Amino acid sequence: MKNLPAFQHHMPVKINFETETLLDLTQFQVDNDPKFSTLLVVSKSVGNIFSELFLELPDNFKIYSEVKKNPALIDIADMPILENCNRIIGIGGGSVMDSAKACFARLITRDSYPLKDLITKPELIASAKNSRQDFNFTLVPTTFGTSSELTSWGTVWDWQNSQKLSISSPLLYPDQALIHPRLSDTLPGYITAYTGLDTLSHAMESYWNRNSTPISRIYCLEAIKYCVATLPQLVDDLANKKLRNSIAIASILAGMAFSQTKTSTAHALSYPLTLQHNIAHGFACSITLGEIFNLNNKTAPELMAPILNIFQENMETSNDNFAEIFKSFLTACRASTKLGDYGVKKENITNLAKAAYLPKQTNSMLYQVNEEEIAKVYRAVL
Ligand SMILES: [Fe+2]
Repeated sequence: MKNLPAFQHHMPVKINFETETLLDLTQFQVDNDPKFSTLLVVSKSVGNIFSELFLELPDNFKIYSEVKKNPALIDIADMPILENCNRIIGIGGGSVMDSAKACFARLITRDSYPLKDLITKPELIASAKNSRQDFNFTLVPTTFGTSSELTSWGTVWDWQNSQKLSISSPLLYPDQALIHPRLSDTLPGYITAYTGLDTLSHAMESYWNRNSTPISRIYCLEAIKYCVATLPQLVDDLANKKLRNSIAIASILAGMAFSQTKTSTAHALSYPLTLQHNIAHGFACSITLGEIFNLNNKTAPELMAPILNIFQENMETSNDNFAEIFKSFLTACRASTKLGDYGVKKENITNLAKAAYLPKQTNSMLYQVNEEEIAKVYRAVL
């Protein structure tokens, strides 16, 4: 047996998983200290589900429900934080949770720096280390795609400069993640598909990541099993609670893995697709996974075999060209397999590849790609 390299696994988030109840908001009032205030960041749809309960919240709760999809830097910088706020609770999809997280970074640094500085200089967030325990951060996912409730970073979009940014610090791990799959029961089909595909992408990108460990890879494979067995059925049976529970579990497992490794090439290739062609994140980061698997398979076929086996078994095929199997899987999830369906044209590829090639992130996987190979991957799914 080969010598294992040293590794660490750090997961400080307390997870509560509860399949029967929607979410008991009154639990947040039990430890409510009137000296402090709470910022509740929620999506519009969550605002509708809990509208009556929100009316009964104490005066020291402030609700913010204006988060937009793929949240903009300038909007998060303007989110209101009440004086003496000591708690942020985010309830919603990835955009809401990432906005709550960026706002939490502002809160623990006492709003002393511009948000852009907190993003570009993580040491500013780290300077809040000694007072982090004075604040509480809770995330409640409702779409089960980003697993932001289990990671220490959040995605922020600088639309003015066509840039995807990441705010990141170990201090941004939530204190607790409340997982209630029933919150996703009314999610429409296409959101169910692209959030589930985002989860799958996190699990696969974490698996072939250079930072993966024997522990993180176990989480990856379990997450992939859940996604592949569940997602095609779920998009045809949206009210199926058992399948909703399975996707919520997949999202936790993927989060446990990629919180340790971060993402890789498929995500790097997705950002220009979202910025330049407005493709929903989960579709953008999954459409190239088949081609990217085949690249990694050149470098480490033995390591990649378990993923191929999971797909072959579930898709009932003996085909060993993963990219082909993956196209069938995307179709079964009612997702497009071609960038052309999203309006991308041949003449866009050079620009996309240029924007996607960020050596650090693009090359965090087993197979090392260059800009030309990235263009080839885009062309293969055009
Ligand atoms: Fe993602």
